[in-house]
Amino acid sequence: MVSVTQGSASSRPAWVPRFFAWGIEQVMKVYEPQVAEHKRSLFGDLYGEVLEIGPGTGPNLKYLRTDVRWTGVESNPHMRGYLEREADRVGLQVDLIDGDAMHLPYADNSVQTVIGSLVLCSVPCPQTVLKEVYRVLKPGGEYRFIEHVAGTGLIGLSQKLIKPLWCCCADGCTINRRSWETLEQSEFGKLKIQHFRINFPFVTPHISGIATKA
Ligand SMILES: C[S@@+](CC[C@H](N)C(=O)[O-])C[C@H]1O[C@@H](n2cnc3c(N)ncnc32)[C@H](O)[C@@H]1O
Repeated sequence: MVSVTQGSASSRPAWVPRFFAWGIEQVMKVYEPQVAEHKRSLFGDLYGEVLEIGPGTGPNLKYLRTDVRWTGVESNPHMRGYLEREADRVGLQVDLIDGDAMHLPYADNSVQTVIGSLVLCSVPCPQTVLKEVYRVLKPGGEYRFIEHVAGTGLIGLSQKLIKPLWCCCADGCTINRRSWETLEQSEFGKLKIQHFRINFPFVTPHISGIATKA
């Protein structure tokens, strides 16, 4: 069910992205029920061509209609095996590109919908990624996202304390990015954001929403 396009390769020691791919597959089993309702309403009505940035092991595939034409751009090649299995399980035809969301291999104004979950926390420069997403979207096209973000009070403090260790263990994830601000400051003409909490250590609060290209 999967066609694979080869692109950039990671320069890190192989065990780091390999370990992270295995680790996130385990964590997702516990995390996913916490966000399932949000994801169902965010991704469930999509149709046509959908581009996902940083799809990881593919936890979002199950929310999509099986007639969606899905492409993913993922920088960690060790995610592929998990994603292929998930695509087969849910019966979705997918095209996985080994690449970088900061340089999307798409022409300007060419994609109807881009989706991303827990990815603005992990990319080296979320501003650049949003610029790229905006560039490739057709006018009226949407970026649908769900992200963990910086908390306040005790949660904010615990995120600050664990940040360096988290970054190492979670393959570069910054636990406390203020991604709603990055989205608000981006070029998108229309932005709908919902802030919510989940019952999961450190990766709460969350935001989800839709950014529309004018
Ligand atoms: C925290 S994981 C989330 C994975 C998946 N979206 C999910 O919700 O489980 C972040 C993902 O973004 C990918 N990623 C990080 N930087 C990237 C980049 N520059 N381009 C494409 N993918 C990237 C990672 O390899 C990883 O799969």
